Amino acid sequence: MELFDTHAHLDFKDYDDLPEVLEASSENNVSQILNVGIDIDSSRASLQLARDYEEIYAAAGIHPNNGDRLDDQGIEVLRMLAADKKLVAIGEIGLDYYRDRVSKRIQQEAFCKQIALAKELGLPMVIHDREAHRDIVNILRKEQAYDVGGVFHCFSGDWNMAKWGLDNNFLIAIGGVVTFKNAHDLRDVASRLPRDGMLLETDCPFLAPEPKRGKRNEPAYLRYTAGYISALRKTSLEEIAYFTTLNGRKLFSI
Ligand code: NI
Repeated sequence: MELFDTHAHLDFKDYDDLPEVLEASSENNVSQILNVGIDIDSSRASLQLARDYEEIYAAAGIHPNNGDRLDDQGIEVLRMLAADKKLVAIGEIGLDYYRDRVSKRIQQEAFCKQIALAKELGLPMVIHDREAHRDIVNILRKEQAYDVGGVFHCFSGDWNMAKWGLDNNFLIAIGGVVTFKNAHDLRDVASRLPRDGMLLETDCPFLAPEPKRGKRNEPAYLRYTAGYISALRKTSLEEIAYFTTLNGRKLFSI
């Protein structure tokens, strides 16, 4: 059995024990990890991890909360990183209206520039959407993001939004939140998604699933989320692992 953690931040300072974390991850059947950048430094660090560890792949991008730091030189660096074979996506990019350090207008500009970059490079996008569902959909539609598609990471919308994503070349990534008591909408989405529309992720170090909720998250805990979803969908853990890993490999051309 193989699992694919499609969203991790192993370059964060939380992981001074990275070799042990990766050992636990492989003991728990996680055979691929996508490490995702949030700014220029972490995009570089993600690619370095991908060069150092066979099972790690990288995404490069500027998180909406850092949107004010994206200039032309930043785009040039992202373009340069993307020349590496192990750089398989642009992200995480999108909108975060929960935090307002960066204005909506600047977030939207950074988002549009990076959609254009993903299309130019022919790379799928890792989309961050927090309390911005409507604008995410409007911008993806306006920029014709369908051409490259990607994934709605740590999906937090309802079934209608998931359906829009599936119809527009996006997969839906389910994280540990699905195991939380009040995650009714997400459970609805996770039970209705077609097999070819679902990915799994940890978003570690954040959002550890039950029974690790509140602790530092890590790829090894992906099995709790996968196990929960297999019970929800009344199928085997092996089947969930099989199709979500296949979907991830296809999306990121691994
Ligand atoms: Ni993230």
